[in-house]
Amino acid sequence: MTTSHDEQVRDESARVKIFDTTLRDGEQAPGITLNTREKLEIAHQLRRLGVDVMEAGFPITSPGDFEAVREIAREVEGVTIAGLARANEKDVTRAGEAVRESPLGRIHTFIATSDIHMTHKLRMDRAKVLAAAVDAVRLARSIVDDVEFSCEDATRSDVTFVAEVVAGAIENGATTINIPDTVGYTMPVEFHAFLTELRRLCPSLDDVTLSVHCHNDLGLAVANSLAGVLAGARQVEGCVNGIGERAGNASIEEVAMILRTRAEDLGGLWCNLDTTEITRASRLVSRLTGYVVQPNKAIVGRNAFAHEAGIHQHGVLANPLTYEIMDATSVGLAQNSIVLGKHSGRHALAHALTDLGYELGKDELNAAFARFKDVADRKGAISAADIEALVSDEMRTEGVDGYVLEETAVSTGGGAAPHATVTVVDPDGEKHRGEGDGDGPVNALMQAIDEAIGTHGTLLEYHVSAVTGGHDALGEARVVCDIDGRTFSGQGVSPDVLEASAIAYLRAVNASRRAEEADVTDQGV
Ligand code: KIV
Ligand code: ZN
Repeated sequence: MTTSHDEQVRDESARVKIFDTTLRDGEQAPGITLNTREKLEIAHQLRRLGVDVMEAGFPITSPGDFEAVREIAREVEGVTIAGLARANEKDVTRAGEAVRESPLGRIHTFIATSDIHMTHKLRMDRAKVLAAAVDAVRLARSIVDDVEFSCEDATRSDVTFVAEVVAGAIENGATTINIPDTVGYTMPVEFHAFLTELRRLCPSLDDVTLSVHCHNDLGLAVANSLAGVLAGARQVEGCVNGIGERAGNASIEEVAMILRTRAEDLGGLWCNLDTTEITRASRLVSRLTGYVVQPNKAIVGRNAFAHEAGIHQHGVLANPLTYEIMDATSVGLAQNSIVLGKHSGRHALAHALTDLGYELGKDELNAAFARFKDVADRKGAISAADIEALVSDEMRTEGVDGYVLEETAVSTGGGAAPHATVTVVDPDGEKHRGEGDGDGPVNALMQAIDEAIGTHGTLLEYHVSAVTGGHDALGEARVVCDIDGRTFSGQGVSPDVLEASAIAYLRAVNASRRAEEADVTDQGV
């Protein structure tokens, strides 16, 4: 085991770039719909985390996606911003417009190369697929200097055909070639052999960055990514918390911590992530997507650094190396000693926020301070984790494009069915009042919101947790709902868990409205 990661001399040829696609493939997970503000907040955290590339979205799919990619390209500096495009003129041009304002803009274009996709999805033969790939890359390269090309479903494709397409893409200007295991089918030994053969058949791959993009359908996404780098890949694609289509993508925090923890045994492979930002990135993504991290998830699960058995606790106290292969502080789990209270002023909050790495403008600071005061009056001591939860919650308050909860009142007990009343403010500032009875108080609140704004949602999942310990902890509620036959998630934070639940449900409703608007304005994708 190595603990001297930071002391090693870093060999550029052993550097593995981390390509984060939380905002694109991650957002394709069922129930996740992030608005531009939420995407920007995640993008800023990804920059702090030190990813090399962030795929900010799929610009052709909706005006909202286009806008989000453009805003991120405008605002987030020092990192490559990629926009996804199918291999056609319309998609590539739109992706180019979206990333234009970033000095490090990348167009990522793709087309499927497996027989099953070409026959049943694309209805194109090999010659047509090759021509589309080459044309798309050439067009992309006329727009930006940085072009990535992916063979979708590569691992179920004929490797000789993949080599032909990849060679054509490189000849026409692709600077990164990505080999996805789109359906999470391959196994590490097979994937290694596939990439080795591909490199043999296509020697020009040595002139560009070889990338891997693995899905987790068989739980092998990270293992396959590791096999990929051992076969010569120098870019790994994945998402924070491993979210993504179906069972998700490779989890970038796991990849980074494998490289860090086992660097010596991996021949000095390294990546540039600031691993101390992992925990914050994980919490933020979980909070904004509504996707709860499983407690035993490697690196970022609640129990990843907890020792339950007495014998383990005894060992760790005697020498942490007995049962710990990583130090909790290396993933940013160190306890931050910041504690504020109701007498703390704006200056103290601003100072704490700077300490926590937030760069807030004047208006955002004012809004955060108002929220902080409200909570401090009700709760008492406010810890670093509370501040993080409140600020990320406040910064995404819909206001501009969604309903906002103004008031809730719930009565329960005495044998009567729980009854709730709510007041909700729409984006034009108009107030809507609703009342509802339910099996429980959360159900009554949902009925009241439905009555106020004319929606109809069914709760599929409901989680409440405390942001920190203690009897006065801030409550965090997460919901997954079926709204008009589609799944949406939402999350809310408040000292009052019922209020947090109502906020969470309203956010799921707002997400469903945004998805509806995107469908209406869809450009035919
Ligand atoms: O899984 C996949 O094949 C993709 C491509 C668009 C890279 O996400
Ligand atoms: Zn994918």
